[in-house]
Amino acid sequence: MGAARPVADLVLSAREQERAGCIPEAIERYEAAIAQAEREGERTILAEALRRLAAVRHQREERERARELCQRSHDVACAIGNELLAGEALNALGVMLVREGELAQAQDVFLRILQLGGASSGLRARVEQNLGVVANIHGDLDEANARYARSLREYQELDDEHGCALAYHNLGMVSADRHLYDDADRYFRQSLEVAERAGDVHLQGLCLLNHAEVHATVKRFEDARRNAEAALAIFDQLGARVAKADAYRVIGVVYRETGRPALAESRLRSAIQLASAAGSVLCEAESTRELAVVYQGMGRNQEALSLLNAAHRLFNRLDARIDLVNVRGRVIELEGTYFAVVRDWGQSIESSDSYTFGHCERVAENAVFVAQTLGLDEAQRTAIRLGAYLHDLGKVKVPHEILNKPGKLTKDEFEIIQMHPVWGIEMLASVEFPWDLKPIIRWHHEKYDGTGYPDRLMGDEIPVSAQIVGIVDVYDALTTTRSYRPALSHEVAVEEIVRCRRSWSAPVFEAFMSSVGDLSNAESPADGGQGQESRAA
Ligand SMILES: [Fe+2]
Repeated sequence: MGAARPVADLVLSAREQERAGCIPEAIERYEAAIAQAEREGERTILAEALRRLAAVRHQREERERARELCQRSHDVACAIGNELLAGEALNALGVMLVREGELAQAQDVFLRILQLGGASSGLRARVEQNLGVVANIHGDLDEANARYARSLREYQELDDEHGCALAYHNLGMVSADRHLYDDADRYFRQSLEVAERAGDVHLQGLCLLNHAEVHATVKRFEDARRNAEAALAIFDQLGARVAKADAYRVIGVVYRETGRPALAESRLRSAIQLASAAGSVLCEAESTRELAVVYQGMGRNQEALSLLNAAHRLFNRLDARIDLVNVRGRVIELEGTYFAVVRDWGQSIESSDSYTFGHCERVAENAVFVAQTLGLDEAQRTAIRLGAYLHDLGKVKVPHEILNKPGKLTKDEFEIIQMHPVWGIEMLASVEFPWDLKPIIRWHHEKYDGTGYPDRLMGDEIPVSAQIVGIVDVYDALTTTRSYRPALSHEVAVEEIVRCRRSWSAPVFEAFMSSVGDLSNAESPADGGQGQESRAA
């Protein structure tokens, strides 16, 4: 090994430079090591130096060169029959593919390493870990859990305590995602214990932070706050800005959930600023969504919706390659929050108005039913559901005595009522929605024959979504008790809608008749308070 000594030292010093963040120096030394190893025929060292240089180049986005280096490392290892180094080269290639978003290819590469069978326990442990990450990005939590568990067994066989700590941490994360909070609790404790013993401060911070999230979820807020504060101190010391932003986010959530909205707002604002400055789209998106929920709790609905829109845009910018998350899952979760905020707002209008309880919910449900019958896609159905919740938002500006007048409305009073679609749009002027629901709010009282309001649109000028909400709104008004008449039965209400069929396009009318208006679906009408809708409709 005498002649190999200097070249091995060169690789070691390159690794030191790399760890210290001196990347140009590291590259220079790896290249020198490669040249020297080639001259001296030190092919084991050559294979290793090629692989390590590949990883550095890949982090600098030099993808082509990185892949070539990896391939060369693999070829050299195969030529000398070193299966372990050949496997390491493939594993490095797989990691690059994950970062490039080529998940299927990456998975093939990782599985090939396991099939080749030449891998050491250490390599198998890392490959299983990587397969767990791929499964996690796919949202396949059971698979991720199984992979992380196998990785743990490999590390245990090796007596690799630090490897075990990493595996415990990942198992904690996936257990939390699977809502197995006791398991997550145990894994984070185990990981933290080892991280403390091994002096891995960064891992300690991650364990404390992710454990805090679990505590917050199971409403152990004092534990959550203490752990998140400890994590914050660690990340502050390490200068880890994204992790620090995550800690602020968890602390903000704890303050919100324990009834301290001003503190929650301040911590979540810090999280958003820090995440944005550090370029973490994921943390910025999540913190923005959490702040929206703070505003929802304060009744500041416009601001809540503006923040949810910002979060929606951010989630759509998320990159599974960089953030290593299941993007679709995050977007679905956000849309759930969105629905909750809009539904709450719709119901709060209901309670200040003289509506029958549940009007918005029933209109939303029935409108989606009609939309399905018409074969509208998911985005259109979402717009219709949200538009249905908010269709009468502008009624909060109609004076109470007009809205609740038991007798006949004067012409002037009716003109004021007719302003509610326009006022609704004005209230939402500053809110940009990811879905096209403003046409529903403005035009749900337009009629196909041009006799509606506020814009007297005619025929297909009226968006289908507005016609759908319009027809189910009329149906709901007819089937609930009004000040001037009792609730009509389903059959009589449908007869009335048939009589007014020229108010809607034939396809919308027919879709209504074959779904909500189907006489075989007849139920007894809901009973409740008074309403104005049939008068307006
Ligand atoms: Fe209305």
